[in-house]
Amino acid sequence: MRFMRLRVLTIAACTALALAACGGGGASGGAQGSDGNTLEVFSWWTSGSEDAALKELIKAFEKANPGVKVTNGAVAGGGGGNAQAVLQTRLQGNDAPDTWQTHPGAAINEYIGSNLVADLSSVYGQDNLSDVVPKSLIDSVSKDGKMYGVSTGAHRGNVLWYNKKLTDKAGVNPSAGYTATQFVADLAKLKSQGTTPICLGAKDTFATPQLFENTLLSVTGPDGWNALTSGQTKWDDPKVKEAAGLFAQMLPYVDSDSSALTWDQATKRLADGQCAFESMGDWAYGELVKGGAKEGTDFGYVPHAGTEGSFVLVVDTFVVGQNAKHPELGQKWASAISTKDAQLAFNKEKGSTPVRTDVDVSTLPKYQQAAAESFRSDSHVQSIVHGEAMNPQFQLAFSDAVTQFVQSKDVDTFVQALAAAAQ
Ligand code: GAL
Repeated sequence: MRFMRLRVLTIAACTALALAACGGGGASGGAQGSDGNTLEVFSWWTSGSEDAALKELIKAFEKANPGVKVTNGAVAGGGGGNAQAVLQTRLQGNDAPDTWQTHPGAAINEYIGSNLVADLSSVYGQDNLSDVVPKSLIDSVSKDGKMYGVSTGAHRGNVLWYNKKLTDKAGVNPSAGYTATQFVADLAKLKSQGTTPICLGAKDTFATPQLFENTLLSVTGPDGWNALTSGQTKWDDPKVKEAAGLFAQMLPYVDSDSSALTWDQATKRLADGQCAFESMGDWAYGELVKGGAKEGTDFGYVPHAGTEGSFVLVVDTFVVGQNAKHPELGQKWASAISTKDAQLAFNKEKGSTPVRTDVDVSTLPKYQQAAAESFRSDSHVQSIVHGEAMNPQFQLAFSDAVTQFVQSKDVDTFVQALAAAAQ
């Protein structure tokens, strides 16, 4: 039942929200390897840096399992907007990939609750894994003492990237303690000087909701966030209204081409000097570096305005299908991608932080070292937009409500929609 509901919702999401075409099309060679010695890995990692990072995992697996091949079943669409719908159709048709990408918390719980994923607890017994992954992360992929997912890296969702040359030229200086009020004032300043203030990859359905998610966190702080996501605070609370008002102030500064751009195209625009800011998870870091942009000279970053001290968790996790065609290879995949070496190589490309605390991050670039430090010391909150904090029904309603709000700017209707979805 639960799974049926999830399926209907994600297909609805695909039809109603996804601007890119839904359905099929592996990034590098299609899916469904039925060969006994082939493992199918399903994800939405198709941008330059995502694909490079995925290849590091594949390399680690193939090295540990000579002779075994991997079929890369990735489906394009940032944040999994299209991949999730394709996956649900395949699960429904009993055509599960051997292993697929998901997130901890509510997202993985849907699969666990529907009996769709295999117990990976034995992997946690290997190579000290259960001792070196933070307990809260293990808990967020577990049920009744069994672990159902292995995580590769923790992305920070609340980062504000900026084009250094443009901000310097405009006399804008995002730095420690940067507030939402300063941010809005700086957007106006940039616009008055003829610079497009915000890049947004709104073709990917997660990007606009993520800008709101980060704005909301700037108003609620981590405790208020957790009160909202746990149901203690109602979604028509004055703080949510305040966040909507703030978000509305940012919207006039968004690139007029945004609906035609994916998140990585928007990131490239920022690198190319076509806009000043992008509020985006630190997968943008991987993309900036992959594109040749230099940290400190070409671009800079701060926590999204008003969210310093909080770390929005967007953790990448793999599960193995309960009905996988190659269950043993699935378990081997989970083992191979959990090693220190695999995590280091993967995260270097991806821009995220290794979830193993015994990985030496000193070889990672400056941004990633700072993110690893924040990961250890900041307050963690789970992302709504990426399906960790709330169930898929609310995730979809949140996305829908933001999409409508961008048009209407009607704060009351917006918060009422959220409050109704949370019932
Ligand atoms: C997130 C995922 C990241 C990144 C991003 C954009 O959901 O956790 O790894 O891929 O989507 O596609």
